[in-house]
Amino acid sequence: MQHTETEHILVTGATGGIGLGICHALAERARRAGSPLRLSVASSRAGERLDRLVAELRTAGIDADGVAGDVTNPAQCDALVLQALAAGGDLSGLVCVAGASGPGALADLPVEQWDLTFHLNTRAVWLLARAARPSLLRTRGSITAVASMSGLHPHPGYGAYSPAKAALVMLCRQLAQEWGPDGIRTNSVCPGMIRTPLTEAVYQDDATLQRREALVPLGRIGCPDDIGQAVAYLTSEAASYVNGMNLVVDGGVSDHMLCMIPGRPGKPPVGTQSA
Ligand SMILES: NC(=O)c1ccc[n+]([C@@H]2O[C@H](COP(=O)([O-])OP(=O)(O)OC[C@H]3O[C@@H](n4cnc5c(N)ncnc54)[C@H](OP(=O)(O)O)[C@@H]3O)[C@@H](O)[C@H]2O)c1
Repeated sequence: MQHTETEHILVTGATGGIGLGICHALAERARRAGSPLRLSVASSRAGERLDRLVAELRTAGIDADGVAGDVTNPAQCDALVLQALAAGGDLSGLVCVAGASGPGALADLPVEQWDLTFHLNTRAVWLLARAARPSLLRTRGSITAVASMSGLHPHPGYGAYSPAKAALVMLCRQLAQEWGPDGIRTNSVCPGMIRTPLTEAVYQDDATLQRREALVPLGRIGCPDDIGQAVAYLTSEAASYVNGMNLVVDGGVSDHMLCMIPGRPGKPPVGTQSA
């Protein structure tokens, strides 16, 4: 964004753990810079959950409006962007967080589940970006999408999720090339293991928590603010020359594979003594 008036950012998936962390990090960045920020926060549907989020953000001093739409539905992607424009004027940023994984091995994954996974995690970002494009052209704004380390490495048992997130990373690179000349930057972020309400059940088991932490070179599971800070950077002036990049925010876990090979120097496999 090249001007100093109010930033207006549409955040999908804002009711989720990572989305909420991103909203707070964006607000913190704007406060530190002394620049006004308006957030349009999106849920798949209107109702109490979205109302509670808007109230919570406003209580924290954030200028926020709620918008609703199922991003697996093309018409609702358009409507979501229109609602945001009506609530807060031109968009300086589109941050696409809405997404979900689901178990399903490829051998017997129903076609409907494959399609839904791609529609939610991949196609929606293209449709939202397309709807927001005229506005982003006016502001020379940015698009940031939340993919996953599962888009960089296969995740057996989650058939369509890894392919969908991999396609999302490529979609962002493609947008960066096609729309960069128009002044619109596009980047993605790949979170590693992040503790959110969605994943909390796993971390309630101490043994699983410890085994997961042991896999991460930084020794901890990530939190929503870790992703929020990355998105706050990518949507800021500080990243004005960053376009088509994928920022992996995983504490180093997805590069850890070679450390796990038995019989080699380095970290021994989890649960074994070093030789
Ligand atoms: N948590 C992790 O460890 C992790 C790791 C890597 C990547 N990610 C990615 O990070 C993103 C957020 O994850 P999270 O852990 O914060 O999950 P979450 O708490 O379940 O949040 C998911 C968000 O997506 C929205 N959403 C789901 N289906 C939608 C639809 N059809 N239309 C519109 N919005 C929809 C939900 O909105 P409503 O419920 O309000 O409808 C919710 O706000 C996802 O893209 C996920 O793939 C997460």
